[in-house]
Amino acid sequence: MKVTIVGAGAVGASCAEYIAIKNFASEVVLIDIKEDFAEGKAMDLMQTASLMGFDTKITGATNDYSKTANSDIAVITSGIPRKPGMTREELIGINADIVKSVSSSLIEHSPNVTLIVVSNPMDTMTYLVHKTTNLPKSKIIGMGGALDSARFKYRMSEALDCPASDVEGMVIGGHSDTGMVPLTRLATRNSVPVSAFLSEDRISQVAEDTKVGGATLTKMLGTSAWYAPGAAVSSLVQAIANDQKKMFPCSALLEGEYGLNDLCIGVPVILGKNGIEKIVEIELDEAEKAKLKESSEGVSKTNGLLDL
Ligand code: NAI
Repeated sequence: MKVTIVGAGAVGASCAEYIAIKNFASEVVLIDIKEDFAEGKAMDLMQTASLMGFDTKITGATNDYSKTANSDIAVITSGIPRKPGMTREELIGINADIVKSVSSSLIEHSPNVTLIVVSNPMDTMTYLVHKTTNLPKSKIIGMGGALDSARFKYRMSEALDCPASDVEGMVIGGHSDTGMVPLTRLATRNSVPVSAFLSEDRISQVAEDTKVGGATLTKMLGTSAWYAPGAAVSSLVQAIANDQKKMFPCSALLEGEYGLNDLCIGVPVILGKNGIEKIVEIELDEAEKAKLKESSEGVSKTNGLLDL
């Protein structure tokens, strides 16, 4: 199993680290545009192999896509992250050019690759890859909901004063501060609805804190977060690599599902060796449907800024 990660920055390197520690891939190739940067990150990570006990071989290359040949999965994290006060949407101009050229170079050397798009604004970047490549739709996956759901579980576990692993919950919709739809109605603590433990106001607060989860960290760190994003990407890569048939909310191209068309937005999908093996349509109540519709309008508006 060969995995390429384009962008050896904060998220790309964190993702490589988690993939290596989980020890399921034979090879990880890091690519960056900055001279020697990916090579340096790869060497640093390889020097943890004997300490962490993994066998994954990590190498780096400066913009040399021949090194990525025959990758099974490739992750696109190349681009600029937001700074405090910026929205993800403000990154569109620079990141669209980068994502377009990177996806084309990846596919040239790995025609059967499954792509995971991370660069922001992620739903629009995922849509861009659909529009500008010939990959089947099952092989283009946007990562956002897996991270937002992990943040939701963290916030919910704080409110419940319980381990995050006891919480089940999911965030669908666009990967933006206003577009996320945390499904509080379906959130549970060990299968018991969270409404059995928390007031409506507290649950709403958890949802609001989740939606600004990325912005909160960007303010604290001076740039966007990397541990949880890297871990979330590594979980998607593992689900595909090990044919786990696990369900995650991911940005997928919708063609009528949830009443939406011609956009990529976060919905539950089953991930396995074929990429997105199924888009799962769950029953939403009227309020949730309205929020998803509003979120989709925001994503479509950002898609409209693409020069297609
Ligand atoms: P970073 O600045 O630490 O790393 C980005 C790397 O991409 C840099 O090393 C840069 O040299 C490289 N790069 C730029 N253009 C390139 C090109 N054409 N080819 C190869 N490499 C290139 O940024 P960070 O924090 O790793 O974030 C990366 C992206 O991921 C940003 O757009 C950020 O907004 C996004 N992000 C998305 C998340 C999600 O949930 N979808 C979560 C966190 C970040």
